[in-house]
Amino acid sequence: MAKKKARFPRHPFDVEHGTDTGGLTPGVELKTGHENDRHNTAYYGIAPSLFRRFVTQWRKLPPPHRLSSYSFIDIGAGKGRAMLLASEFNFREVVGVELHPELARRCRRNLRLWQAAHPDTAPLRLVEGDATELVFPPGPCLVYMFNPFGAPVVRRLLRTIEAQFADRKGDLDILYVNHESEAAIKGRAGFKQLWRGPVAMSSLDAIVDLQIINSQLDGEYGSTGDEACSIYRYNGVKSSSR
Ligand SMILES: C[S@@+](CC[C@H](N)C(=O)[O-])C[C@H]1O[C@@H](n2cnc3c(N)ncnc32)[C@H](O)[C@@H]1O
Repeated sequence: MAKKKARFPRHPFDVEHGTDTGGLTPGVELKTGHENDRHNTAYYGIAPSLFRRFVTQWRKLPPPHRLSSYSFIDIGAGKGRAMLLASEFNFREVVGVELHPELARRCRRNLRLWQAAHPDTAPLRLVEGDATELVFPPGPCLVYMFNPFGAPVVRRLLRTIEAQFADRKGDLDILYVNHESEAAIKGRAGFKQLWRGPVAMSSLDAIVDLQIINSQLDGEYGSTGDEACSIYRYNGVKSSSR
């Protein structure tokens, strides 16, 4: 018998921009053969209002470098919604990394559409592959994660960061949305928590979020209108291997 497929309403962001960043795909349906597959949480695009509010929260810290010197790195870019939103800010470049080939294909298509419509935004590029193998660009980096994977992969990512940023003190901040595996970062030598709290989405985004969540087949994911978030900075001190 053919497997039943969930049908999701089109997100207003996609209606406005002609992109395709919607839907919700559980992690168990995102197999690629990579050992990190089993920790993949899901594909789900960030609520645009929540994303903008969280980046604004980070800017209030304020960060130690000027915004235009940061590369924005989306760890688990999916179909690229957060990358497109990040390009509204004056980052040096916007880089996404996505493990699943079909999501990466859709992401590249969205990036092409976006760049054609907004030729003056920051350069956008996608790396297809596993986030823990990413080679970070030189200069300050703002790493963004919307709960892409569980704690074992978060720890692997932190080891990658430690290896590449050990001599780049204060050059890497992490924005962590729906920080389910925050315990993997909190208290780890070299990482300092700078901010923690809920970030709310607009009432329009909350209505759409609820519609999408209500369209799931298995009711696995919930919607509360906000996300628990935190901000960390890597201060370049190598921890003992964990
Ligand atoms: C919740 S979605 C976030 C999408 C996007 N960042 C956003 O905010 O709109 C998480 C994404 O992380 C991807 N992902 C999970 N594990 C990964 C890994 N090890 N390497 C790269 N991407 C991964 C998933 O395939 C999924 O597309």
